[in-house]
Amino acid sequence: MINVALLGHGVVGSGVAEIMTKSKESLSQKIKQDIELKYILDLRSFDNLPYSNKFIKDFNIILNDDSVKIVVEVIGGLHPSFDFVKACLEKGKSVVTSNKELVAEKGYELIKIANENNANFLFEASVGGAIPIIRPLTQCLLANEIEEVYGILNGTTNYILNKMIVDKMDFDSALKLAQENGYAERNPASDIEGTDACRKICILASLAFGKHVYPAQVKTKGITDITLDDIAYADKFNSVIKLIARAKREPGGKISAEVSPALIDKSAIISNVDGVFNAVVVKGDSCDDIMFYGRGAGKMPTASAVVADVLDCAKHLDARKYLSWDDAEDNYIIETTKPVRFYVLAKAKDYEALKQSFESEFKGISSCVYNTDKNEIAFITDFGKADELNSKLSRLKCDSLKTIYKMI
Ligand code: HSE
Repeated sequence: MINVALLGHGVVGSGVAEIMTKSKESLSQKIKQDIELKYILDLRSFDNLPYSNKFIKDFNIILNDDSVKIVVEVIGGLHPSFDFVKACLEKGKSVVTSNKELVAEKGYELIKIANENNANFLFEASVGGAIPIIRPLTQCLLANEIEEVYGILNGTTNYILNKMIVDKMDFDSALKLAQENGYAERNPASDIEGTDACRKICILASLAFGKHVYPAQVKTKGITDITLDDIAYADKFNSVIKLIARAKREPGGKISAEVSPALIDKSAIISNVDGVFNAVVVKGDSCDDIMFYGRGAGKMPTASAVVADVLDCAKHLDARKYLSWDDAEDNYIIETTKPVRFYVLAKAKDYEALKQSFESEFKGISSCVYNTDKNEIAFITDFGKADELNSKLSRLKCDSLKTIYKMI
């Protein structure tokens, strides 16, 4: 019998408890051993559930029960999760988590502790909800030098942008709906300000390029200043706006990494990834582009990935999974050296001055919309070096200027 303990009975935790209760027999058959959810740690009380008898409030009961071989951490955040996970690994218990903040901030340290104590630390659910991406990156695509990883890694913001694009819904109403569906973080600022996507690209970049990437190293911008006007202009340029997290191999063993909204041409497959769905594109030197797609948030999709990790741990109690990377390095993350393009929205009370400066700086540009009613010009720059484009933009005679990365 393999006993499992669950830390946290929130959105994901309750999904894990439901699967492990309802499918106990079939899960046991799949791994050819009995597997049982023995404890659920939560400070709240949950009566009238088929597994209400499993709730405890004292973490030490789990830590000191040697029959518990696998611990699932779905509390979220760093405290007390980090201390709990560290203590379990130090006791030789394998840990499964969906906690992207924990992996992005403490992954290097926790994997090291897991290895030293002959335990596994698995986190498939930390990126892309139900989408298998950690294993493909570390197993199926291992023969490749990864050149780039990018994608839509936050379900809440993709859901909000989609509601704004399709239903012309305002930002706040769309966020409220995402919260009601259980997609958003406890503090939705981490979704809409890009922090959640940042943590996820840090995990993917650490795995893909071999050194820990910390969230503080990654330039991050969310979707809070995206307006229905930007969405309408993007549409005129045959594009949609998505929150994209990306990491790319750069010369000299460096990488670039960034999270920001981006205009995506409607012909690109990723432009059709809507609602709570996520997509991750991995570009390898041999495999070329591969896209992974599925539900990126929500109770059951995320629980599906967590329980699969539990089963993998159960099958490999005496074998180590080879998820690891080296420690972080200063100056490892640089600005991309590749040419970029921007969508730009420039406004000025003195529209004629704006128009003249635009036409002299961006002569011959084809993708532009002159909006004399609103005293603004929206355009897509040609490809150029980011600093050169920025200095041209600084010479525009305007009162306000918004730039968004034009990715594909
Ligand atoms: N808040 C996250 C999202 C949950 O919306 O993607 C899944 O990590």
